[in-house]
Amino acid sequence: MADDSAQSGHLAQRFTQAFEQNVWQDGESVSGAGSTLNYTSELRTTLPAMIRALGCQSVLDAPCGDFNWMKAVDLSGLAYTGADIVAPMIEGLQRDWPQHGFVCLDITKDPMPKADFVLIRDVLFHLSNPDVVRVLENFVNSGSAWLATSHSFHVTEMADVESGPTTFRPVNLMTSPFLFGPPDHVLKDYVPGFLPRWLAIWPRETIAARFGR
Ligand SMILES: C[S@@+](CC[C@H](N)C(=O)[O-])C[C@H]1O[C@@H](n2cnc3c(N)ncnc32)[C@H](O)[C@@H]1O
Repeated sequence: MADDSAQSGHLAQRFTQAFEQNVWQDGESVSGAGSTLNYTSELRTTLPAMIRALGCQSVLDAPCGDFNWMKAVDLSGLAYTGADIVAPMIEGLQRDWPQHGFVCLDITKDPMPKADFVLIRDVLFHLSNPDVVRVLENFVNSGSAWLATSHSFHVTEMADVESGPTTFRPVNLMTSPFLFGPPDHVLKDYVPGFLPRWLAIWPRETIAARFGR
């Protein structure tokens, strides 16, 4: 894998610019077409049901994007924290949703708050393979219990890419170079007309074992 650690300092700048310019060009959500209420209509029911079925009481949504669809999820009884690299977006969310926690951080390098359930949705496909490794190690180091992340089972190899908002390549952590075993749980996360993908859910122990912990 290429070492692109020198790039990581520019990530905040690039994603902030993407936010300011609405680079994903969706009229409803600045986080893109996958973050609309229509796109997430099924997930908004299945996800909180899964979180509760796993006995989780705290959720870290990193990245949370603009919170557009998560604001319509039943978060009652759950301690919810949203995190994103874009500071002005997080400041707006802190102002508008004081009942939740919102923090500005870079999941490739800043310590991740510990939570029972960590949702890393629709971001790894924007990140280089070394940055994906950093995020996964960060999750392991946080001591959090469950990881749920966007997954495309049909992909046979994960090409390396440069991290950034205009990068996109589907993620399959079960293929080279990651080679994880099958997830413990899977939630469908697409609607007709979009690339089929799921939320794949693994316990911390599985991710930790992959990194020799
Ligand atoms: C396509 S949006 C998805 C947001 C959200 N997960 C959702 O489902 O709506 C991708 C988000 O990832 C954020 N992001 C990109 N790199 C990040 C990083 N290294 N740390 C934290 N957030 C990051 C971007 O600012 C953007 O808000």
